[in-house]
Amino acid sequence: MKNINPTSTNAWQRLHELFQDMKEFQLRDAFIHHPERGKEFCISHEDFFVDLSKNLITPEISAALNALAEECGLDQAIQSYFGGERINATEDRAVLHTALRTDQDTAPTAVKEKVKEAELSKQKMFGFVDAVHKGSATTYKGETFDTVVNIGIGGSDLGPVMVYEALQAYKNDMELHFVSNVEGDHVEEVLKKINPETTLFVIVSKSFGTQETLTNATTIRNWFIDRLGRDAVPQHFIAVSSNIDRAVEFGIDRENIFPMFNWVGGRFSLWSTVGMSIALGVGTSNFQALLDGAASMDAHFKNTSFDRNIPVQLALLTIWYNNFYGAESEAVIPYTQYLHRLPAYLQQAIMESNGKSVDRNGDRVDYQTGNIVWGEPGTNSQHAFFQLIHQGTKLIPAHFIAFAKAKYDHPDHHNKLMANFFAQTKALMFGKTAAEAHEDLIRSGKSGEEIETLVPFKVFEGNKPTTTILIDELTPRSLGKLVAMYEHKIFTEGVIWNIYSYDQWGVELGKVLADVILHDIEHVSSTDHDASTDQLLQRFYSKK
Ligand code: F6P
Repeated sequence: MKNINPTSTNAWQRLHELFQDMKEFQLRDAFIHHPERGKEFCISHEDFFVDLSKNLITPEISAALNALAEECGLDQAIQSYFGGERINATEDRAVLHTALRTDQDTAPTAVKEKVKEAELSKQKMFGFVDAVHKGSATTYKGETFDTVVNIGIGGSDLGPVMVYEALQAYKNDMELHFVSNVEGDHVEEVLKKINPETTLFVIVSKSFGTQETLTNATTIRNWFIDRLGRDAVPQHFIAVSSNIDRAVEFGIDRENIFPMFNWVGGRFSLWSTVGMSIALGVGTSNFQALLDGAASMDAHFKNTSFDRNIPVQLALLTIWYNNFYGAESEAVIPYTQYLHRLPAYLQQAIMESNGKSVDRNGDRVDYQTGNIVWGEPGTNSQHAFFQLIHQGTKLIPAHFIAFAKAKYDHPDHHNKLMANFFAQTKALMFGKTAAEAHEDLIRSGKSGEEIETLVPFKVFEGNKPTTTILIDELTPRSLGKLVAMYEHKIFTEGVIWNIYSYDQWGVELGKVLADVILHDIEHVSSTDHDASTDQLLQRFYSKK
């Protein structure tokens, strides 16, 4: 990897100059003067149609952004990423979630062994999942399982729950529940809904050292033992981990542990045995289709020139808005309830990866890095926060994601959903001028004075950038592509921002302090904290 400060590149200087010219740029005018803009800024890959044309860019800006990627050594970085180099240098690890969805023939030589390991671990998982579905892996009493509880947090929860929710239309008879938060009430609410006799518990923790997961797993196991006895545990509790010894120490039978690898980051691990609950919920062939979709996006990312490369173009746009326009955040608006957990999943993937302030040389950066990502499905979000995107003071570039074909036959609903989908990006782009607002008010029968008062409130500035990702249909395969698209976007941004995207030291301090404070809470004491924390602890002790 080239450890280069992006702001020192020629392309960055060029982008600065071009940005000055953009002060006058209006998307509305750009479409009038260049009707071919729609075609020019559009990329497709299989069933993905990505329209970048409603972004604040020109062909010159695109060229300069592509040159930035070149100067920052993206080409070589992609080789290092897929080739299994230890690009997660602060943890001395390779970053090989891509090896989980490739085959030995297409894998780079250095990665073939890892692909083999991944294949074996997948086969073990598929064998188990198929046995559960066929009824040959049974409960303690010899019945078939009908419920799964996934116990994990962060990457050991967000990916599985997001995909499971997204693939509801593919779900089998198995009911899935997810316990993540170290909150007894959360655990209790799930336990209320399940029958221990027919439930399989999947403890997912890469490290098998995460406080939340071990606490929840212990409570749930005790609850289970109270009802069915200790002897039933081996058939009802399995684990997914890269730390086999710790899982064994916890009391999971060795043959019930499904290995994952330290060369797969937690937030990129849904493709591994961490996806056990997904496979149990939608079946192994759908899980394989998810992997195949991701592999297709991997190939697109690896083999396509930057100017036609979807993840690269999305990453470059983020950098453009983040570093030149000063945009703080980016919205992701899926026009389907199936993807209601996508923004939460992306929050971990994006913000845990690129929320860094020290560059790959160990120096504090003097430019902005990771952006904030947030969102909710449309059209619900139109009735919630869209006001701010349309008429607020902040620039919020947004991804609009929709599927041309619905899963069920409700054309009236789907037409309305899609009409809103297209209308919003058009409204954000065009806005409404004072003259147009004036006309509208006349048409609605308002008087002259009322019109003058209301016009300023009815103006939409427009020129709000959006990217439209229109996909043929939400299937396991297209979902795999979509998630992999964001993974490679994250990677590209990290390369250009010159940061390490695959560690997460920033989550450690809070964990350490929580241990100290837990000791205090357990002893109803306060070991010399700051005045605010002391006061809060005393208040807590007096009320609990
Ligand atoms: O707290 C951060 C983190 O390490 C995430 O990166 C990870 O996905 C999550 O905790 C859970 O970790 P584990 O799978 O090891 O329990």
